[in-house]
Amino acid sequence: NAAVKGGFGTFMEKEIHDQPKAVADTLLGRTDGQGNLVLDELRIDEAVLRSVDKIIVIACGTAAYAGHVAKYAVEHWCRIPVEVELAHEFRYRDPVVSEKTLVVAISQSGETMDTIMAVRHAREQGAKVLAVVNTHGSTIPRESDAVLYTHAGPEVAVASTKAFLAQITACYLLGLYLAQLRGNKFPDEVAGYLEELGKLPEKIQHVIDHADEVRAVAEAMKDASSVLFLGRHVGYPVALEGALKLKELAYIHAEGFAAGELKHGPIALIEEGQPVFFIVPTPRRPVLHNKVVSNIQEVRARGARTLVIAEEGDEAVNEFADVVFRVPRTPTLMMPLVTVVPLQIFACALAGAKGYDVDQPRNLAKSVTVE
Ligand code: G6P
Repeated sequence: NAAVKGGFGTFMEKEIHDQPKAVADTLLGRTDGQGNLVLDELRIDEAVLRSVDKIIVIACGTAAYAGHVAKYAVEHWCRIPVEVELAHEFRYRDPVVSEKTLVVAISQSGETMDTIMAVRHAREQGAKVLAVVNTHGSTIPRESDAVLYTHAGPEVAVASTKAFLAQITACYLLGLYLAQLRGNKFPDEVAGYLEELGKLPEKIQHVIDHADEVRAVAEAMKDASSVLFLGRHVGYPVALEGALKLKELAYIHAEGFAAGELKHGPIALIEEGQPVFFIVPTPRRPVLHNKVVSNIQEVRARGARTLVIAEEGDEAVNEFADVVFRVPRTPTLMMPLVTVVPLQIFACALAGAKGYDVDQPRNLAKSVTVE
């Protein structure tokens, strides 16, 4: 009923609107007020965390894309190589794991069987396993060495939204904590990043409050048969997640690509009227930004319809964009927390326009408890 859905028609819409709080709650109580991170809850010896020489993220679905986003930040901040692997692939390919490997298992439910099996396998190989999980007392944290809970609150809609943002936030806290512990970042740098993270809930709220055009465009596209998503750097996993949301909710063929791959294949798919989303990096990183803008130009010249997610004030995209959805100015590494939101709203609105049940899409389960 409407009460449990907070006045929204569906859990999915409610959970999209819960996202500023999910991020704020995941940040809450994890600093000492002086800008230092306090993650005593980790229960892994600091000496062990200092000696980590590789991180492997294991997860499935949307949680794996959160790990993919985190890789960019954690490698940059900590100078530790980070691999991201689907849990079911990790488990069965004889992965190289040692006592110096930190395995980070990301899961909303904590009950995904593929991820549980991968956790067991990693621990048998001597790795330390840290769970990033939303559901208290679930199997994955119980079987792990430590847990960093995401505080997204219960997620009911099958397709994940607020848990994704909370997972990225928690992984960023972990990355900054490791950087602080290992001396890769000075305390004032860590404090600066935490301050920026603290501004995200308000920015996410801004995107949610200005999404009428996203919904209108989605409704007008309900007969689309294929949609492509392109992103570069942290925009790449966002493109993958945007495509996944559209498949899950609207049953439309959708694919995400690294924008740099365009000329290596996907450009052959471009024909008149093909809708293509672009997740554009901030113009303050011109090397990344200019490349994506020329990708927009390239597909537009071949007749594609370009739907562009770009930062406020980024006027360079206007010339080649059929539609521009704006997000607030945000540091590059934190952009996924705002750029994914229009894509979630787009998929939800389009599926709604088709009359589909966005909370319970066909054939899917909230938590896949078989391998
Ligand atoms: C299922 C759900 C997805 C979710 C994935 C991983 O496929 O439909 O929304 O991302 O499982 O679930 P977990 O609970 O491990 O995050």
